[in-house]
Amino acid sequence: MIRVLFLGDVTTRSGRQIVSERLPQLKQELGADLAIVNGENAAHGKGVTLKIVQQLKAAGADLITLGNHAFSKHEILDHMDECPDLIRPANMEPADAGQSFAIRTVKGKRIAVYNVLGNVGIDGSTASCFATMQSLLEQTEADIRIVDFHAEATSEKQLFFQVFHRQLNAVIGTHTHVQTADEMVQDGCAYISDAGMCGPYHSIIGRDIDEVRRRMILGEKTHFTPAEGPAILCGIFFDIEEESCRTVSVQRIQERPQQ
Ligand SMILES: [Fe+2]
Ligand SMILES: [Fe+2]
Repeated sequence: MIRVLFLGDVTTRSGRQIVSERLPQLKQELGADLAIVNGENAAHGKGVTLKIVQQLKAAGADLITLGNHAFSKHEILDHMDECPDLIRPANMEPADAGQSFAIRTVKGKRIAVYNVLGNVGIDGSTASCFATMQSLLEQTEADIRIVDFHAEATSEKQLFFQVFHRQLNAVIGTHTHVQTADEMVQDGCAYISDAGMCGPYHSIIGRDIDEVRRRMILGEKTHFTPAEGPAILCGIFFDIEEESCRTVSVQRIQERPQQ
């Protein structure tokens, strides 16, 4: 059996802290063979830096996926070639920065991990997520295929899963930062609408509550303010049978801070 661990959007300092603390233990406790972490909000809530990529790697992230905030910290664009484990959305500009999939060999099986951006209710995509996924599948030779589908609309995520589940081993939704309880396996493919967030628990999807209140209710032009305080850790893990290369089970992980 190959066990894959996936942690949802690492958000701000408290998210990085909890991942640094818990990921090494989680990998060991679960016996995970591959750990994938979405890092799109790891740097002050938007984007990622080389230093943070290195921190997440040091904590045990084998691969780091991104999302619509992939390049919000522009400095990462100068370091994409130094980050072979960083995967950016395939249908997003700049198209030539870094890679939109990576292949790792685990227990003799080639595992491809992709990152695709949704089109509904989310900015930044440059092409249909469906056409993009199809093209990625045609470009890659792998035994096992996993996609971080970074999207807003649950309907789009469910449709994406229904369209591609026979060609994939996991469709993992990210971006909303709120974990859904709809994990399942269908025809050898795991699914969850959203893996959730690793980030500040008392927040509005990682942002300071008062800052969002002033912006949304009072109409003030506020600056993005990451929330402080202890973090929730969210993700999933799933098992893939080696012989058939089919996913056979999936489980959610959600660790809330002590109240
Ligand atoms: Fe996010
Ligand atoms: Fe996002």
